Amino acid sequence: MNKQKKHAGEFAATLIEDGMVVGLGTGSTIAYFLEALAKRIQDEKMTIIGVTTSTKTARCAEELGIPIRDIDLVPMIDLTIDGADEVDQHLNGIKGGGAAFLMEKIVARYSRRVIWIIDEQKLHSKLGQFPLPVEVVAFGSGKLIAELKERHLHPKLRLDNHQQPLVTDLGHYIVDLDLEQIDQPFELGRYLDGQIGIVEHGLFLNVADQVIIGQDEGYRIMNN
Ligand code: A5P
Repeated sequence: MNKQKKHAGEFAATLIEDGMVVGLGTGSTIAYFLEALAKRIQDEKMTIIGVTTSTKTARCAEELGIPIRDIDLVPMIDLTIDGADEVDQHLNGIKGGGAAFLMEKIVARYSRRVIWIIDEQKLHSKLGQFPLPVEVVAFGSGKLIAELKERHLHPKLRLDNHQQPLVTDLGHYIVDLDLEQIDQPFELGRYLDGQIGIVEHGLFLNVADQVIIGQDEGYRIMNN
């Protein structure tokens, strides 16, 4: 699987052009992309500006010598490369396994183009096998979880390594919805969008323009 992630990440790095503002996603697949991009920047003396989607990616970019800038200090982002946890044949996906999806969604929103890099195991005919993350305000989260439970959305508060509620980069909690299969992702997205206390959810619908699927040998591409 790491081989597949590496192939996808390395190919994605070849898509970056000199002068671009690049959205830098989060996750283990993105780590391969960042390494390959840093090498290109050094070898080819490229000038790019990175906009990060998490403190983890920001740290990693800094260590690798990839210049980064605050999202509000750049014009539109030319291209964002990000990972995903699950993708269907329509290029809709679930993101947020790494707890960074709120920033990822904001960066995607202000990107001209969004490309996801994944391995074969993440492709499914229907979304939902991967628990759907929902970022919530800590205040009243117990009440919200009870309501989601009543609606049979099987919520579970995400905990950190110390068994405390995991706190995101932007200071919220994450609730994972164990749905097994999502038949109506747009309807579910609309419902979640409408709930007080929910800041954002990990359904990324009509967001990706292209998905690069790493394979044991090389990669393949799915277009929207
Ligand atoms: C981060 O919150 C996620 O959206 C990641 O992009 C996603 O979890 C993919 O991560 P991996 O590349 O580590 O599988």
